Amino acid sequence: MNIAGSSNGRTSPFEGEYLGSNPGPAAMFSGFLYRGIAKKILFLFPADTIHELFLKIGKQLGRFSFVKDFLAKIWVYSNHILEQNLVGLTFKNPVGLSAGFDYNADLVEILPSIGFGFNTAGTLTYEAYKGNSPPMLSRLPKSKSLLVNKGFKNKGVTKILNNIKPNSNTLGISIGATNKPYSTFEEMVENLIEGFRDAENFNNFFYYELNISCPNLQNIQNLNNKLDSPSGLKQALDKLETLNIKRPVFIKMPLERTEEDIKELIDVARPFSFIKGLIFSNLVKDRTNPAFNIEEVKKAGKGGFSGKPVEEKSNQLLRFAYKLCHDRFLLIGVGGIFTAEDAYKKILAGASVVQLITGMIFMGPQQIGLINKGLVTLLKKDGYKNIREAVGAQT
Ligand SMILES: Cc1cc2nc3c(=O)[nH]c(=O)nc-3n(C[C@H](O)[C@H](O)[C@H](O)COP(=O)(O)O)c2cc1C
Repeated sequence: MNIAGSSNGRTSPFEGEYLGSNPGPAAMFSGFLYRGIAKKILFLFPADTIHELFLKIGKQLGRFSFVKDFLAKIWVYSNHILEQNLVGLTFKNPVGLSAGFDYNADLVEILPSIGFGFNTAGTLTYEAYKGNSPPMLSRLPKSKSLLVNKGFKNKGVTKILNNIKPNSNTLGISIGATNKPYSTFEEMVENLIEGFRDAENFNNFFYYELNISCPNLQNIQNLNNKLDSPSGLKQALDKLETLNIKRPVFIKMPLERTEEDIKELIDVARPFSFIKGLIFSNLVKDRTNPAFNIEEVKKAGKGGFSGKPVEEKSNQLLRFAYKLCHDRFLLIGVGGIFTAEDAYKKILAGASVVQLITGMIFMGPQQIGLINKGLVTLLKKDGYKNIREAVGAQT
């Protein structure tokens, strides 16, 4: 399969070097304000409270065109070197918002003005879930990580998709099984499929992520099979195939697996033509990961960790997957991206596009434009004329 999707002959809407503005001094200054003042205040309050506050403010601000225009002017960076058409999707730049931050799709209107090239809402589930018992989110600043224990808190697929206005942004939704007790694995798979069935009634998004790898689903952990085992994934994909989904589906892969385990999952996914991509990867659970500050992680509560502790292993699996199947699957890199150099490392390791959450929280929202701008500098320095040429160059 050719993952490049520019075969529709459409003229690129992104011609010309700069489209938005060029995040220069204003973006640098907002980064300085965020890290020097705003973050210091925000980090005094519980992470859950601040996350909810950001979602509320972001949702309201997204209603005003003048706010979006202003933010785009200072933060968005556009350059045709970063533009790609892949698996039928337009990526105006390769930096996306990863699943989990915008779990009820409140930020769909505002995110393009922050500078993201694409964004995933969710993980959404067939039924609403109020979230695991708090705290659902906390910070590990020394480890550059967040502790996540939301367990797919969300209002449910139909309610959320009913509230998204169609727009031209490359929006995707992540779907998982509702976090509730099931008597059998098959019952859980059925719930997952019902989520997709509901989502198929809507045309206001462009791709799916199939989340098989959330480590925080206590209700689902004791079933006789798992979605991220080869036989469990095969059962889910066999069922999903019956829905005849036309939009690309990307599988969100687990992190703490051997290359052999990942190969088995890839072998299962390969024959299913609606699976167009693989995302490396979800959260880390292992507290002995060397990227943690030992004292900090000792005090952490329940959950999985994002950020720097994810980075090395997810890059390793990405590199492995590139060698194995880059001609079959679009590869998406996620985990520990804070700077343009971090994003570039994933691109060289085989990611066509990347996603992040934690880097934005620690560095500030201006960082998305600055990462894009930095990527252009890095690509040019290495003599690449388009990001596509750099994908997998160091595998
Ligand atoms: C607050 C938060 C919530 C998350 N929730 C989800 C989720 O619902 N579904 C999912 O696939 N991944 C979820 N993740 C994992 C992220 O999508 C991503 O894979 C991981 O955080 C690594 O990227 P980062 O280091 O840039 O944060 C969540 C991460 C964070 C920080």
